[in-house]
Amino acid sequence: MPILSYPSSPLIPTLTLLLSLPIFFYLAPSILPPRRLTITAPDELDDLSLFQKAISLSSSTSTDKSHRPSTKSRLGSTSTFRPKIAFLFLTNSDLHFLPLWQLFFNQTRPNLYNIYIHADPSIPITPPTGVFADKIIPSKRTQRSSPTLVSAARRLLATALLDDPSNAYFTLISQHCIPLHSFNYLYKFLFDVHKLSKNLEYLSYIEILSESPSLWDRYNARGENVMTPEISFDQFRVGSQFFTLSRNHALKVIEDRRLWRKFKLPCINVESCYPEEHYFPTLLSMADLEGCSQYTLTRVNWTDSVNGHPHTYHRPEVSPQLIHTLRESNSSYSYMFARKFSPDCLNPLMEIADSVIFKH
Ligand SMILES: *[C@@H]1O[C@H](CO)[C@@H](O)[C@H](O)[C@H]1NC(C)=O
Ligand SMILES: *[C@@H]1O[C@H](CO)[C@@H](O)[C@H](O)[C@H]1NC(C)=O
Ligand SMILES: *[C@@H]1O[C@H](CO)[C@@H](O)[C@H](O)[C@H]1NC(C)=O
Repeated sequence: MPILSYPSSPLIPTLTLLLSLPIFFYLAPSILPPRRLTITAPDELDDLSLFQKAISLSSSTSTDKSHRPSTKSRLGSTSTFRPKIAFLFLTNSDLHFLPLWQLFFNQTRPNLYNIYIHADPSIPITPPTGVFADKIIPSKRTQRSSPTLVSAARRLLATALLDDPSNAYFTLISQHCIPLHSFNYLYKFLFDVHKLSKNLEYLSYIEILSESPSLWDRYNARGENVMTPEISFDQFRVGSQFFTLSRNHALKVIEDRRLWRKFKLPCINVESCYPEEHYFPTLLSMADLEGCSQYTLTRVNWTDSVNGHPHTYHRPEVSPQLIHTLRESNSSYSYMFARKFSPDCLNPLMEIADSVIFKH
């Protein structure tokens, strides 16, 4: 009798189990939902101490007034306060469009901007050069469908708030974003508008929407009733993950602990888990809706989106016409940035950089 006909032998099931273990571990990632990064207590404490430093610096050294543009910029006056734009690059790969951004920054004076890069440390990247050299801030791992992208954005905001009190606007950018206008066009837009209305706070440019077909599922992604009482469903908002915030609002974001307590919880429903598209619009609409334009400056194409990813532009699509089209918006101002662009777009974009993109 062959040995296999003795099912009572304890050796056989044990062997089968042992043999199938490697197969299980091989297949598990495609069968089980992938494990998501969570916010650990040490990471949270690191961030809190950074935020605390930025908050106390802001309350001790600066009043809101100092972040308004000077209305009397006289020739050669060195005492004139020049507000800066802080560019916050959030990436988990090389910055594909670094040469294009170099051109963007090369057209201006270094005292009008700062650059900060948050790069996922688990992914090796080529050390950036030129104006990007040494701009990587202490970073932690990031992952979609987890609260880590929100943490990374808050870390960038806090680092920039702390680093330079002249940072008046904070623009979040990814490695797939491109500029649609010159630096000077953006700078004039952000700061000149306010000369007309000196008593107004700077506006933040962040999309804030109260309606979306998937909003209810996204609200309940951490379980039913988990978000209450801090955030009721009618306070829950959605918007673009990429924004340009005023200093005042950047500070509000890192001061927040009440909403973050809920948004940092891991999702049960990973399919509806996009914390970075909800945390910022929800918080700012609750804190200061009047101070937000409710439009983002970053164009994104959601037509035929796949798996939560917007349309990704590829090389053959790049043309002067595309740049002109992407600038057009339904608000009273043009879009300043666009995503998502695949790395193969770099060369065609460089070819039209001076003649089209940075011409205005
Ligand atoms: C930017 O300017 C610097 C210094 O003027 C120069 O070395 C560099 O090549 C320029 N970069 C680009 C991309 O034009
Ligand atoms: C948006 O993406 C779709 C394909 O998904 C494309 O057909 C359309 O031209 C794009 N729109 C713009 C303005 O680029
Ligand atoms: C402007 O609004 C219309 C109507 O809602 C919409 O179809 C169109 O895509 C919008 N255009 C842009 C550039 O957002």
